[in-house]
Amino acid sequence: MNNLIQATITERQMMSSDVVSLTLTQVDGSPLPVFEAGAHISVHVNEDTIRQYSLCSVPGETVFYRLGILKDPKSRGGSIAIHDQLKVGDTVTISIPNNLFPLDMTAEHSILAGGGIGITPMIAMAYALKAAGKSFTLHYCVRAHKEVAFLEELQRDFGDALQVHCDDLGDEQRLNPATDFGAPDAGTHIYTCGPSGFMDWIMSSARELGFQDNQIHFEYFTVEVDSSGEGFTVVAEQSGKTISVASGQSIVQALAAEGIKVEVSCEQGICGTCIVDVLEGEPDHRDQFLTDDEKADNDQIAVCCSRSKSPVLVLDI
Ligand code: FES
Repeated sequence: MNNLIQATITERQMMSSDVVSLTLTQVDGSPLPVFEAGAHISVHVNEDTIRQYSLCSVPGETVFYRLGILKDPKSRGGSIAIHDQLKVGDTVTISIPNNLFPLDMTAEHSILAGGGIGITPMIAMAYALKAAGKSFTLHYCVRAHKEVAFLEELQRDFGDALQVHCDDLGDEQRLNPATDFGAPDAGTHIYTCGPSGFMDWIMSSARELGFQDNQIHFEYFTVEVDSSGEGFTVVAEQSGKTISVASGQSIVQALAAEGIKVEVSCEQGICGTCIVDVLEGEPDHRDQFLTDDEKADNDQIAVCCSRSKSPVLVLDI
Protein backbone atom coordinates (compact mmCIF):
# COMPACT_ATOMS: atom_id res chain seq x y z
CA MET A 1 0.00 0.00 0.00
CA ASN A 2 1.46 3.32 -1.04
CA ASN A 3 0.34 5.24 2.04
CA LEU A 4 2.63 3.20 4.29
CA ILE A 5 6.24 3.95 5.08
CA GLN A 6 8.96 1.69 6.43
CA ALA A 7 10.71 3.71 9.10
CA THR A 8 13.74 3.18 11.31
CA ILE A 9 13.85 4.28 14.93
CA THR A 10 16.99 6.40 15.05
CA GLU A 11 16.59 7.90 18.52
CA ARG A 12 14.72 6.95 21.65
CA GLN A 13 14.74 9.07 24.78
CA MET A 14 12.67 9.27 27.95
CA MET A 15 11.39 12.85 28.15
CA SER A 16 9.69 12.52 31.54
CA SER A 17 8.82 9.75 33.97
CA ASP A 18 6.43 8.15 31.48
CA VAL A 19 6.82 9.79 28.06
CA VAL A 20 9.22 8.37 25.48
CA SER A 21 10.31 10.30 22.41
CA LEU A 22 10.91 8.30 19.23
CA THR A 23 12.64 9.73 16.18
CA LEU A 24 11.84 8.00 12.88
CA THR A 25 13.52 8.23 9.48
CA GLN A 26 12.75 6.42 6.23
CA VAL A 27 14.56 3.09 6.03
CA ASP A 28 16.04 4.01 2.64
CA GLY A 29 17.07 7.48 3.79
CA SER A 30 14.74 9.30 1.41
CA PRO A 31 12.75 12.35 2.59
CA LEU A 32 9.53 11.77 4.49
CA PRO A 33 6.28 13.37 3.30
CA VAL A 34 5.80 16.94 4.49
CA PHE A 35 3.38 17.28 7.39
CA GLU A 36 1.38 20.18 8.82
CA ALA A 37 0.99 21.10 12.47
CA GLY A 38 -1.69 18.98 14.15
CA ALA A 39 -1.06 15.93 11.95
CA HIS A 40 -0.79 12.40 13.27
CA ILE A 41 0.55 9.14 11.88
CA SER A 42 -0.52 5.56 12.48
CA VAL A 43 2.15 3.29 13.92
CA HIS A 44 1.86 -0.44 13.26
CA VAL A 45 3.08 -1.53 16.67
CA ASN A 46 2.68 -5.20 15.81
CA GLU A 47 0.50 -7.35 13.58
CA ASP A 48 -2.67 -6.69 15.58
CA THR A 49 -2.05 -3.22 16.91
CA ILE A 50 -2.16 0.06 15.03
CA ARG A 51 -2.16 3.27 17.02
CA GLN A 52 -2.28 6.98 16.14
CA TYR A 53 0.21 9.46 17.54
CA SER A 54 0.59 13.17 16.87
CA LEU A 55 3.78 14.40 15.29
CA CYS A 56 5.64 16.76 17.61
CA SER A 57 8.59 17.73 15.45
CA VAL A 58 8.89 20.90 13.40
CA PRO A 59 6.22 20.95 10.62
CA GLY A 60 7.85 20.78 7.22
CA GLU A 61 10.76 18.70 8.54
CA THR A 62 11.27 15.81 6.13
CA VAL A 63 14.44 14.18 7.45
CA PHE A 64 12.71 12.74 10.50
CA TYR A 65 9.42 12.57 12.38
CA ARG A 66 9.25 12.70 16.14
CA LEU A 67 6.58 11.23 18.40
CA GLY A 68 6.00 11.61 22.13
CA ILE A 69 4.25 8.54 23.56
CA LEU A 70 2.82 8.21 27.06
CA LYS A 71 3.10 4.82 28.73
CA ASP A 72 -0.53 4.51 29.65
CA PRO A 73 -1.31 1.68 32.07
CA LYS A 74 -4.93 1.87 30.90
CA SER A 75 -3.92 1.46 27.25
CA ARG A 76 -5.11 -1.46 25.19
CA GLY A 77 -1.51 -2.52 24.63
CA GLY A 78 -0.17 -0.05 22.07
CA SER A 79 1.78 2.37 24.23
CA ILE A 80 3.00 -0.34 26.61
CA ALA A 81 4.35 -2.38 23.70
CA ILE A 82 6.09 0.68 22.30
CA HIS A 83 7.69 1.53 25.64
CA ASP A 84 8.69 -2.03 26.42
CA GLN A 85 9.68 -3.39 23.01
CA LEU A 86 10.69 -0.77 20.45
CA LYS A 87 14.34 0.22 20.43
CA VAL A 88 16.84 2.14 18.31
CA GLY A 89 17.47 0.34 15.02
CA ASP A 90 14.03 -1.32 14.87
CA THR A 91 11.96 -0.95 11.72
CA VAL A 92 8.30 -0.02 12.05
CA THR A 93 5.56 0.53 9.52
CA ILE A 94 3.94 3.94 9.75
CA SER A 95 1.32 5.73 7.68
CA ILE A 96 1.73 8.97 5.84
CA PRO A 97 0.64 11.93 8.00
CA ASN A 98 -3.04 12.82 8.23
CA ASN A 99 -4.24 16.10 9.68
CA LEU A 100 -7.65 16.26 11.38
CA PHE A 101 -6.57 19.13 13.65
CA PRO A 102 -5.33 21.95 11.40
CA LEU A 103 -4.28 25.41 12.54
CA ASP A 104 -6.10 28.49 11.32
CA MET A 105 -3.11 30.55 10.29
CA THR A 106 -5.26 33.64 9.77
CA ALA A 107 -5.78 34.02 13.57
CA GLU A 108 -4.20 37.05 15.18
CA HIS A 109 -3.49 35.12 18.36
CA SER A 110 -3.64 31.41 19.14
CA ILE A 111 -4.05 29.84 22.57
CA LEU A 112 -2.73 26.28 22.68
CA ALA A 113 -3.85 24.27 25.72
CA GLY A 114 -2.34 20.81 26.03
CA GLY A 115 -3.19 18.48 28.91
CA GLY A 116 -0.60 15.78 29.64
CA ILE A 117 0.42 13.94 26.48
CA GLY A 118 -2.02 16.20 24.60
CA ILE A 119 0.92 18.60 24.44
CA THR A 120 2.34 16.76 21.42
CA PRO A 121 0.24 18.30 18.61
CA MET A 122 0.55 21.64 20.42
CA ILE A 123 4.34 21.48 20.12
CA ALA A 124 4.11 21.18 16.34
CA MET A 125 1.53 24.00 16.30
CA ALA A 126 3.79 26.23 18.37
CA TYR A 127 6.66 25.63 15.95
CA ALA A 128 4.42 26.48 12.97
CA LEU A 129 3.13 29.68 14.60
CA LYS A 130 6.62 30.73 15.63
CA ALA A 131 7.96 30.16 12.11
CA ALA A 132 5.12 32.28 10.69
CA GLY A 133 5.80 35.08 13.18
CA LYS A 134 2.34 34.64 14.73
CA SER A 135 1.34 35.49 18.29
CA PHE A 136 0.58 32.47 20.49
CA THR A 137 0.61 31.15 24.05
CA LEU A 138 1.37 27.53 24.79
CA HIS A 139 -0.27 26.30 28.00
CA TYR A 140 1.05 22.93 29.16
CA CYS A 141 -1.03 21.42 31.99
CA VAL A 142 0.03 18.35 33.98
CA ARG A 143 -0.96 16.84 37.30
CA ALA A 144 2.59 16.56 38.65
CA HIS A 145 5.80 18.38 37.79
CA LYS A 146 7.62 15.11 37.07
CA GLU A 147 5.23 14.50 34.17
CA VAL A 148 6.39 17.53 32.17
CA ALA A 149 8.03 16.27 28.96
CA PHE A 150 10.23 18.14 26.46
CA LEU A 151 10.63 20.93 29.05
CA GLU A 152 14.13 22.15 28.18
CA GLU A 153 13.33 22.26 24.48
CA LEU A 154 10.05 24.08 25.02
CA GLN A 155 11.64 26.68 27.30
CA ARG A 156 14.50 27.20 24.85
CA ASP A 157 12.34 27.45 21.71
CA PHE A 158 9.24 29.21 22.98
CA GLY A 159 10.48 31.33 25.90
CA ASP A 160 7.77 33.47 27.45
CA ALA A 161 5.12 32.02 25.11
CA LEU A 162 5.29 28.82 27.20
CA GLN A 163 3.34 28.56 30.43
CA VAL A 164 3.62 25.31 32.37
CA HIS A 165 0.88 24.55 34.91
CA CYS A 166 1.43 21.73 37.41
CA ASP A 167 -1.41 20.73 39.72
CA ASP A 168 1.07 19.83 42.48
CA LEU A 169 2.75 23.25 42.57
CA GLY A 170 -0.10 25.29 43.98
CA ASP A 171 -3.17 27.16 42.85
CA GLU A 172 -1.52 30.38 41.75
CA GLN A 173 0.29 28.80 38.77
CA ARG A 174 -2.64 26.65 37.59
CA LEU A 175 -4.29 27.55 34.32
CA ASN A 176 -7.12 29.99 34.89
CA PRO A 177 -9.08 30.40 31.66
CA ALA A 178 -10.74 33.61 32.88
CA THR A 179 -7.39 35.39 33.20
CA ASP A 180 -5.14 33.33 30.89
CA PHE A 181 -7.41 33.31 27.81
CA GLY A 182 -8.27 37.00 27.89
CA ALA A 183 -11.10 38.65 26.03
CA PRO A 184 -12.88 36.57 23.36
CA ASP A 185 -11.61 38.65 20.45
CA ALA A 186 -12.75 37.37 17.07
CA GLY A 187 -9.10 37.04 16.01
CA THR A 188 -8.21 34.67 18.83
CA HIS A 189 -8.46 30.91 18.37
CA ILE A 190 -8.17 28.24 21.07
CA TYR A 191 -6.82 24.72 20.49
CA THR A 192 -6.95 21.92 23.01
CA CYS A 193 -5.90 18.29 23.21
CA GLY A 194 -5.63 16.00 26.22
CA PRO A 195 -7.78 13.84 28.48
CA SER A 196 -11.46 14.29 27.71
CA GLY A 197 -12.25 15.85 31.12
CA PHE A 198 -9.49 18.44 30.60
CA MET A 199 -10.67 19.26 27.10
CA ASP A 200 -14.30 19.53 28.17
CA TRP A 201 -13.21 22.00 30.87
CA ILE A 202 -11.15 24.07 28.41
CA MET A 203 -13.98 24.16 25.86
CA SER A 204 -16.76 24.95 28.32
CA SER A 205 -14.61 27.65 29.96
CA ALA A 206 -13.89 29.21 26.57
CA ARG A 207 -17.60 29.23 25.67
CA GLU A 208 -18.50 30.80 29.02
CA LEU A 209 -15.95 33.54 28.30
CA GLY A 210 -17.71 34.26 25.03
CA PHE A 211 -15.55 32.39 22.49
CA GLN A 212 -17.59 31.04 19.58
CA ASP A 213 -17.48 27.42 18.45
CA ASN A 214 -15.61 28.38 15.27
CA GLN A 215 -12.81 29.77 17.48
CA ILE A 216 -12.45 26.55 19.51
CA HIS A 217 -10.56 23.61 18.02
CA PHE A 218 -9.99 20.25 19.64
CA GLU A 219 -8.71 16.75 19.09
CA TYR A 220 -9.65 13.82 21.28
CA PHE A 221 -7.01 11.11 21.48
CA THR A 222 -9.22 8.95 23.63
CA VAL A 223 -12.96 9.14 23.63
CA GLU A 224 -15.68 7.30 25.44
CA VAL A 225 -17.46 5.14 22.90
CA ASP A 226 -21.18 4.92 23.53
CA SER A 227 -22.11 1.34 22.63
CA SER A 228 -25.58 1.46 24.18
CA GLY A 229 -28.69 0.62 22.19
CA GLU A 230 -30.76 -2.26 20.93
CA GLY A 231 -29.38 -5.09 18.86
CA PHE A 232 -29.86 -5.10 15.07
CA THR A 233 -29.03 -7.16 12.01
CA VAL A 234 -26.17 -6.61 9.59
CA VAL A 235 -26.17 -8.15 6.14
CA ALA A 236 -22.63 -8.47 4.83
CA GLU A 237 -23.47 -8.30 1.12
CA GLN A 238 -20.15 -9.51 -0.34
CA SER A 239 -19.80 -12.31 2.19
CA GLY A 240 -23.44 -13.34 1.86
CA LYS A 241 -23.85 -13.54 5.64
CA THR A 242 -26.59 -12.18 7.89
CA ILE A 243 -25.31 -11.37 11.36
CA SER A 244 -26.97 -10.32 14.61
CA VAL A 245 -25.27 -7.49 16.47
CA ALA A 246 -26.18 -7.69 20.15
CA SER A 247 -26.72 -4.75 22.49
CA GLY A 248 -23.30 -3.64 23.73
CA GLN A 249 -21.51 -5.48 20.91
CA SER A 250 -19.81 -3.58 18.08
CA ILE A 251 -20.41 -4.41 14.42
CA VAL A 252 -16.71 -5.27 14.13
CA GLN A 253 -17.01 -7.77 16.99
CA ALA A 254 -20.13 -9.35 15.51
CA LEU A 255 -18.50 -9.63 12.08
CA ALA A 256 -15.31 -11.12 13.55
CA ALA A 257 -17.37 -13.79 15.34
CA GLU A 258 -18.59 -14.87 11.89
CA GLY A 259 -15.09 -14.83 10.40
CA ILE A 260 -15.36 -11.47 8.62
CA LYS A 261 -12.37 -9.33 9.49
CA VAL A 262 -12.45 -5.55 9.09
CA GLU A 263 -9.20 -3.65 9.61
CA VAL A 264 -9.42 -1.41 12.67
CA SER A 265 -7.04 0.92 14.38
CA CYS A 266 -8.30 3.33 17.06
CA GLU A 267 -11.56 1.43 17.72
CA GLN A 268 -12.92 4.73 19.02
CA GLY A 269 -14.37 6.32 15.89
CA ILE A 270 -11.45 8.70 15.44
CA CYS A 271 -9.21 7.42 12.65
CA GLY A 272 -11.51 6.22 9.83
CA THR A 273 -9.66 2.92 9.27
CA CYS A 274 -12.84 0.85 9.64
CA ILE A 275 -15.14 2.88 7.37
CA VAL A 276 -17.26 0.70 5.06
CA ASP A 277 -19.97 1.54 2.54
CA VAL A 278 -23.63 1.27 3.52
CA LEU A 279 -25.89 -0.18 0.83
CA GLU A 280 -29.21 -0.11 2.73
CA GLY A 281 -30.46 1.01 6.13
CA GLU A 282 -29.79 4.00 8.35
CA PRO A 283 -26.61 4.12 10.45
CA ASP A 284 -26.60 5.49 13.98
CA HIS A 285 -23.31 7.37 13.71
CA ARG A 286 -21.22 7.39 16.90
CA ASP A 287 -17.82 8.29 15.37
CA GLN A 288 -15.94 11.56 15.21
CA PHE A 289 -14.27 10.86 11.88
CA LEU A 290 -17.06 11.45 9.35
CA THR A 291 -18.17 15.04 8.86
CA ASP A 292 -21.77 16.03 9.58
CA ASP A 293 -22.46 16.10 5.83
CA GLU A 294 -20.94 12.65 5.34
CA LYS A 295 -23.02 11.33 8.22
CA ALA A 296 -26.17 12.84 6.71
CA ASP A 297 -25.45 10.99 3.43
CA ASN A 298 -25.82 7.70 5.35
CA ASP A 299 -23.69 5.83 2.81
CA GLN A 300 -20.68 5.12 5.05
CA ILE A 301 -20.27 3.85 8.60
CA ALA A 302 -17.46 3.43 11.12
CA VAL A 303 -18.12 -0.16 12.11
CA CYS A 304 -15.89 -0.05 15.20
CA CYS A 305 -18.37 2.11 17.11
CA SER A 306 -21.45 3.14 15.13
CA ARG A 307 -24.72 1.26 15.26
CA SER A 308 -27.99 1.16 13.33
CA LYS A 309 -31.22 3.13 13.57
CA SER A 310 -32.93 0.71 11.19
CA PRO A 311 -33.51 -2.94 12.13
CA VAL A 312 -31.31 -4.06 9.24
CA LEU A 313 -28.11 -2.54 7.85
CA VAL A 314 -26.72 -3.84 4.57
CA LEU A 315 -22.95 -3.26 4.27
CA ASP A 316 -20.64 -3.61 1.29
CA ILE A 317 -18.35 -6.18 2.87
S1 FES B 1 -11.06 1.93 13.83
FE1 FES B 1 -10.74 4.06 13.92
S2 FES B 1 -12.68 4.86 13.33
FE2 FES B 1 -13.02 2.76 13.50
